[in-house]
Amino acid sequence: MSDRWYQQAVVYCLDIDTFADSNGDGIGDIPGLIGRLDYLARLGVTCIWLNPIHPSPDRDDGYDVADFYNVDPRFGTLGDFAELLHQAGNRGIKVIIDLVVNHTSDKHPWFVSARSSPDSPYRDWYVWSETAPPDRNQGMVFPGEQAETWSYDRTAKLWYYHRFYKFQPDLNIKNPEVREEIKKICAFWLQLGVAGFRMDAVPFIIEETVPGKPDAAKDFGYLTELRQHLQWRKSDAVLLAEANVEPAQLVTYFGDEGGSGNRIHMLFDFMLNAKMVLALAREDPEPIIDGLRDTPALPPGGQWATFLRNHDEIDLSRLTAEQRADVFAKFGPDEDMQLYGRGIRRRLAPMLGNDRRRLELAYSLQFSLRGTPVLRYGEEIGMGDDLALEGRDAIRTPMQWSGLANGGFSTAPADQLVRPVVTDDGYGYEQINVTRQRHDPASLLSWFERMIRTLREAPEVGVGSCTHVDVPAPRSLLVHRADGPAGSMLFLHNLGPDDVTVDLSSLEGEAELPNDVLADSEYPEPGKLDDLKVSGHGYRWIRLHRTV
Ligand code: NOJ
Ligand code: CA
Repeated sequence: MSDRWYQQAVVYCLDIDTFADSNGDGIGDIPGLIGRLDYLARLGVTCIWLNPIHPSPDRDDGYDVADFYNVDPRFGTLGDFAELLHQAGNRGIKVIIDLVVNHTSDKHPWFVSARSSPDSPYRDWYVWSETAPPDRNQGMVFPGEQAETWSYDRTAKLWYYHRFYKFQPDLNIKNPEVREEIKKICAFWLQLGVAGFRMDAVPFIIEETVPGKPDAAKDFGYLTELRQHLQWRKSDAVLLAEANVEPAQLVTYFGDEGGSGNRIHMLFDFMLNAKMVLALAREDPEPIIDGLRDTPALPPGGQWATFLRNHDEIDLSRLTAEQRADVFAKFGPDEDMQLYGRGIRRRLAPMLGNDRRRLELAYSLQFSLRGTPVLRYGEEIGMGDDLALEGRDAIRTPMQWSGLANGGFSTAPADQLVRPVVTDDGYGYEQINVTRQRHDPASLLSWFERMIRTLREAPEVGVGSCTHVDVPAPRSLLVHRADGPAGSMLFLHNLGPDDVTVDLSSLEGEAELPNDVLADSEYPEPGKLDDLKVSGHGYRWIRLHRTV
């Protein structure tokens, strides 16, 4: 018996302010989200990840928190939030929230107090330096938008550290009070009923910053401590962490050297993300095969969170310059599609030219490769972006529910919306919306529903192993398999435009009435697996056998 619910989850990430507005003020809110839970349940979502919900000056889409113990009044009240948890629970949907504790907003009362006086009880909650740190021009996360990582505060007459924007001062993890406070924040939300946290910027949380020493030591012990605390309070609570570091380092985030998996449960697979995008750009599965081979083994219970898009840019910084150039050339040729020199600020549908075949191929890859899939709202209907918006906001436009004004997102006048709804040719809400696709069994949305149902019937993908099947195959074809206690699945993905065939009769002995459970079109029965056709940009999910 396994209680690792997160290994079987389908996670859906959304930002409350752009999802559904219930009171017509132009800003999405919690009652609006509650009204759409049936939609998410039907799609097959089992866990919602909410981008920051707390009161915030909102200078970094809520990642600048001003009060960890409340919800932003624009979204509703704590009462509304408790109701959301109840209503989601009724539908078998868990809710996790962003835990943004590397830093606070500079408007957080802790920082306001800390900067005001050396005697403030919060002074040591932040990271200060009396002199200008010589390394202050290093380690910026948002090059171009952020000049340095230390800024001078005129009130305190000290420099303070901020790994991100200037208005996001870093908390001091070396201070025992800060460590305890973070635990208290977690306990508070667990008590209300969240299922866990998406932990923001983990490598920076545990960084023991010293002015003038750019390579700060990391206190991994705090992750062990936090995990233990979480599990005392709610045994199946989960930590899903953002740690965008070299894959070899990730093992330490999952657990200590003993391999016991006693820290983070799930980590976003940034490496596979970049490799999938590269593979799609080159129409060649090699980068994915490399990625699968090079990934470190995870401790028991450790799990990857597999994604194509999130609320930030696609980060290509782990690719070589040549690989990155190939991705830019194919998916982000114009400068305003790129961000920070390292990424692409577009949604996937426009990147793939709104080509339904390649969209299905991409999501079929994401959902069949190892780990737990994480979707970003709007991907299921193929929403586009708005490059006229600044930076990462391009992909943070309101959800397109219908052909009604504002895409059914809000009844407010269009100029009062939190962000404009996409109205472009091809991606505007009149063409791309939930209502239209729900009525159409051939729509992308209906396909997503089918794919997610199929995934739920193939638990070996989430809990089992994922391996490249190394057989002679056409270059554009990726053959991989998932094996777990429930049985084995075989997956064929043709990244190229031409039809191919492959001989997999070497697997015939394992097959017990092999059959296609999901495919881009009807194929002849797999038979002896010796002559499997896959169309250009096609895919086949074949069940080899079931044990139960
Ligand atoms: C990572 C988040 O994904 C990003 O959106 C945010 O700006 C930074 N962390 C700072 O919190
Ligand atoms: Ca509202």
